[in-house]
Amino acid sequence: MEQVLQRARPVLPVLVIEEVDLALDLAAALQAGGIEVLEVTLRTPRALEALQAIRRQFPELLVGAGTLIHTEQFAEARDAGAQFCVSPGCTERLAAAAEDCGLPYLPGVMTPSEVLLALEYGYRSLKLFPANGTTSVKMLKSFKGPFTGIRFCPTGGVTADNLLTFLRLPNVACVGGTWIAPHSLVRARAWDQISQLAVEARQLAGSLEVPA
Ligand code: 3PG
Repeated sequence: MEQVLQRARPVLPVLVIEEVDLALDLAAALQAGGIEVLEVTLRTPRALEALQAIRRQFPELLVGAGTLIHTEQFAEARDAGAQFCVSPGCTERLAAAAEDCGLPYLPGVMTPSEVLLALEYGYRSLKLFPANGTTSVKMLKSFKGPFTGIRFCPTGGVTADNLLTFLRLPNVACVGGTWIAPHSLVRARAWDQISQLAVEARQLAGSLEVPA
């Protein structure tokens, strides 16, 4: 999963797709903005269909399935062509289903005990969910000491405004978020604006690389 997050950096767009028709234009807009990795959340009735369509049309994108909260969703996601899976939390049964489906898995955590449990299941790349602004930034700083080598993808509360506070942390691989493709812009088919949000995120992150 580490390589998936590395490729996604700075941002893994978390997509909530209502209409399959819009999925391809959305993926194209994100790709035009420099995005290479997407997460299609299984929160809408046609999400799997949308995921499948994106995979078919954009073989160069890496497409994951997100919001996996039931064990059977892992096999469904894999069968639809998902290349990785994401959950907002983790349980023993979800970890077993992830293992069975054979795809890279990004389980969600929120507390030190959940990090330890995810470690016991063998996961070293974790989604920090929800990421609550400065509280989560402080928590990730504290996690750095005990959880050497664990990399996080904070999601759920990340926007262009706080993106850099997360990306600056050495244990943050990338961030995730819906702000890159908000419902309002998708419904309005504002593809250029969505591309622009992706470009802006990448430019902001690029500023971290420039020496002061
Ligand atoms: C997720 O599933 O990762 C979150 O719901 C995304 O949260 P956001 O809308 O705050 O980006």
